[in-house]
Amino acid sequence: MQQRPIHHTFGPLATRAQVARAFALQFLPWKWRRGPETEMLRTDLEQLFPQQRAALFDTGRAALLALLQALELRSGDEVIVQGYTCAVVPNAIRAAGATPVYVDINLRTLTLDPALVRAAITRKTRVVICQHTFGIPADVSALRLICDEKDIALVEDCAHVLPDAPSERIGAVGDAVLLSFGRDKAISGVTGGALLTRHFLLAKRLRDAETQARDHTLWTILNLIDYPLRYAWAHAIWKTHLAKIYLRGCQWLRLLPPVLTQAEKAGTPSQILFRMPNACAALALDQLHTLTRLNEQRATIASLFAQAAKEHRWPVVKGILAAAAPQKFPLLIPNAAKVRTTLKQQQIYLDDGWCGAVVNPPTVDQRAVGYERGMCPHAEKVAQEILTLPTHPTMSVMQAKQLVQVLAGLL
Ligand SMILES: Cc1ncc(COP(=O)(O)O)c(C=O)c1O
Repeated sequence: MQQRPIHHTFGPLATRAQVARAFALQFLPWKWRRGPETEMLRTDLEQLFPQQRAALFDTGRAALLALLQALELRSGDEVIVQGYTCAVVPNAIRAAGATPVYVDINLRTLTLDPALVRAAITRKTRVVICQHTFGIPADVSALRLICDEKDIALVEDCAHVLPDAPSERIGAVGDAVLLSFGRDKAISGVTGGALLTRHFLLAKRLRDAETQARDHTLWTILNLIDYPLRYAWAHAIWKTHLAKIYLRGCQWLRLLPPVLTQAEKAGTPSQILFRMPNACAALALDQLHTLTRLNEQRATIASLFAQAAKEHRWPVVKGILAAAAPQKFPLLIPNAAKVRTTLKQQQIYLDDGWCGAVVNPPTVDQRAVGYERGMCPHAEKVAQEILTLPTHPTMSVMQAKQLVQVLAGLL
């Protein structure tokens, strides 16, 4: 039995510092809903994305919905989104009354293919959402040109990456920038999302939406604060076999908030906007203050995987080599699902919810979110063949080396 599992999803950003902070926050309920950390997070984000104003919500998906509502989309309007994405993106588009149009990806970058975007534009297209998948920079300059030519808004979905200094490649050219502070993102507040924009009217509408958004209940917030603690505890008892029972118990008692609700999986998300709890802003702010170190650590682990891939001739998604801080390290191999199953026996859990479907996780009703088979052949290939290796901040270099060793014997 390993000391600790290798994983994508068991509290990947629950660092020691975050666990300590979450523990302290449990005893400060007056800070849970509102407090100074929310404004501090806003100010710091606005410094990271110069000239842009930030609005904060309880999730990235809520921030995206608020944006699409602020853009006043009408029924029948189309929003271009890439195949190989997360269901919350098309869900937000549909919740705003518009129609998601899936456009295929470039296999080297897992991001939108600009030529296909151009071909998919109709008179009804209002927005293009470009996703920097796993931190691989999308071709934003080509997309910017197309959007300018056609008078379409460009949204950069930076849910997977947060540069630690203003960057030209990520978050600089979009009309709006979407961030997520979910549990496996670049930084984590357990939950949280932000929308940044340089357009004055849009920024004002988004701030109004934030002001009018509801507060979560104290019970919900306590559960969110406790998320890092629950995983810290599970890791501490991992060797005893009790960890899995403990985690299942937490799930059964609904003490681990699900990433997607059943309604979201069925393509019928809620349209209610919630504020980002101040306690979550405090957790995210702490990690934002250490972002350079967190990104460096991701880069170190990714370069270790890149080196191993070169040595063993693993088929790497080439674009990841250009990512400054990869959220994951993707390989494309024909028997990916089988490899994941084999690895599980060695306490290596590589199912990140981004395998098996074009609109992830695979438990999502693809048709309900508007995806039909054959729309995006590249994305379908990636869904079947992708094997991602973890680069998150609680993954150690030793674990990365151990994973390389196991994979060398398997691939
Ligand atoms: C590509 C992408 N965009 C947006 C989001 C929305 O983030 P959140 O989970 O904070 O709603 C996610 C979440 O997984 C995502 O993967």
